[in-house]
Amino acid sequence: MPERVMEEKVAVVTGAGGGIGRAIAQAMAAAGARVIVNDVGGGLNGEGRSDTPGNETISLIRNAGGEAELCTDSVAEWGSAQKIVQAALDHYGRVDAVVNNAGILRDIIFHKMEPADWDAVIGVHLNGSFYVSRAAAPHFRQQGSGAYVHMTSTSGLIGNFGQANYSAAKLGIVGLSKSIALDMQRFGVRSNCIAPNAWSRMISSIPATTEAEKERVARLQRMTPDKNAPLAVFLASDLARDVTGQIFVSRNNEIFLMSHNRPLRGIQRSEGWSPELIAEHALPAMRANLQPLERSADVFGWDPV
Ligand code: NAI
Repeated sequence: MPERVMEEKVAVVTGAGGGIGRAIAQAMAAAGARVIVNDVGGGLNGEGRSDTPGNETISLIRNAGGEAELCTDSVAEWGSAQKIVQAALDHYGRVDAVVNNAGILRDIIFHKMEPADWDAVIGVHLNGSFYVSRAAAPHFRQQGSGAYVHMTSTSGLIGNFGQANYSAAKLGIVGLSKSIALDMQRFGVRSNCIAPNAWSRMISSIPATTEAEKERVARLQRMTPDKNAPLAVFLASDLARDVTGQIFVSRNNEIFLMSHNRPLRGIQRSEGWSPELIAEHALPAMRANLQPLERSADVFGWDPV
């Protein structure tokens, strides 16, 4: 019997028509939440619309005895994002948790990235996370409680090839979450980020041509989307009542804390600096702590535990 840690609560899960969002919506419902399943049902690049993926999630939840309603409005526009939160109020009379999970990809090497690739990805991930969060904020404030769970990515926290748009959006979401945590703490509202990992349609677009890449894909396939759901439910629930402004990575059966971002070395010069003096004194003193240029997979390795 799963623990009912979301009993009496209403959760909005964006991008819940598949992958990680579907797994989180199912886990929320299994934990007792009434769930707004939001998804436009589009393609990986954000084009197209369909009710089918969202309705499939609704069926899975209802067949398991849970409560859920569908909302197919896009997170990527202010007006439609408000409708997503309004759906929670219309169906269930309240909103307690917002999981900003909706996402698209337009991967392309930076010198070929077009403004349309940038705008589409920033629009869904960063603007969408702001719009849906902001739409819920007055309700959270009024009731003196609420939890945001935002999906960031190690591509944003560390970096990745061909994902300047996505990485910028995902690191932007971290800043959004940390500042929401500060602004809304006085109202009993929490905000945290998860950098999830799952074999979903998003990650399965990764090209696998070489033998090494194919081997990697076989390992990644073990990371099913549901592995990320317990952390999302925990952060949305009162079990995490003292957890806010944090960044977690979930990868198969591992959970990492990634919140720490502190100055490693400070050098003060009372006369101030010139470019030459920085090169001569500041940089050599800092060199040992310079962050190497890495992609997320270099840091986390290929093998999920
Ligand atoms: P997915 O592609 O399976 O699911 C994303 C869902 O968002 C889709 O069902 C899509 O229809 C929906 N969506 C897209 N645009 C939308 C919009 N404007 N409004 C509402 N819904 C919209 O992807 P996956 O892998 O489940 O990703 C979920 C989240 O986790 C994303 O934010 C992604 O960036 C993040 N993530 C996933 C990783 C992974 O390993 N799969 C790694 C790091 C982050």
